[in-house]
Amino acid sequence: MTKFISVTNQKGGVGKTTTAINLATSLAAINKNVLIIDSDPQGNASTGLGISHNNRKPSLYEMIHEKKLIDEGINETIIPGLKIITANTDLAAAEVELTNFNNREYVLKNIFRNLNNFDFVFIDCPPALGLLTINSLVASNTALIPLQSEFFALEGLSALIKTIDLIKENYNNALDIEGILLTMADKRNSLSYLVEKDVRNHFGNKVYNTTIPRNVKISEAPSHGKPALVYDTQCAGSLAYIELAKEVILNQNKNHE
Ligand SMILES: Nc1ncnc2c1ncn2[C@@H]1O[C@H](COP(=O)(O)OP(=O)(O)OP(=O)(O)O)[C@@H](O)[C@H]1O
Ligand SMILES: [Mg+2]
Repeated sequence: MTKFISVTNQKGGVGKTTTAINLATSLAAINKNVLIIDSDPQGNASTGLGISHNNRKPSLYEMIHEKKLIDEGINETIIPGLKIITANTDLAAAEVELTNFNNREYVLKNIFRNLNNFDFVFIDCPPALGLLTINSLVASNTALIPLQSEFFALEGLSALIKTIDLIKENYNNALDIEGILLTMADKRNSLSYLVEKDVRNHFGNKVYNTTIPRNVKISEAPSHGKPALVYDTQCAGSLAYIELAKEVILNQNKNHE
């Protein structure tokens, strides 16, 4: 069974792409077969994994616009077991083009329907609640929501939860919340601590025990085209993403019991 996880939050810069890349890398490191689908016109997951513009296979946009087959768009990465379907600025047009499709909420689900050779597929969503995000959630089993450990963390979260509920009601009743992940946490900062307490009070066991610390190596890694786990395996950020991968697997096993 392939599990599709949308990494999503319409708030920008909360750690969606960083989480997609490093969680996927951690899972690939324990021999899982993992695919990242870059569903953001910014293409940060693609560049963050060092896929050069020249050697790219057809991107997600070509699959939507030219109906290219998904198999043609799967790129290898430097991590064995981790593959990626890229995105670039062309994908911004898809947000508009999708409105003209019949069953416009199901376009990505249809494109992804034959992707059954992976254990995990992570869809890196754009910072918006538009049709790309809706399509990603319709195509997913679960949503993983990174929250930045800062004052406005919870702002906008109710809109996201409402969107998830609407999608459950109308298009994908099996959609579940994979987990809420606190990112860029700073143990020395009392505000960060209060935000964490608040989020845990609100969302209980939906919140991962693991929090991702603010860590400079994590922010440097993408400019080298590498996951943090490859750039500096031992840094606090990398270790936290390994812990997160353990939790994801444990939850998975629990749900299958
Ligand atoms: N734990 C961390 N410590 C330090 N910097 C981080 C951490 N996580 C992410 N960053 C940095 O913060 C910025 C935003 O992270 P990221 O791109 O993952 O967020 P995003 O939610 O995908 O953004 P967008 O909404 O634009 O897609 C990036 O420069 C990233 O390198
Ligand atoms: Mg991103």
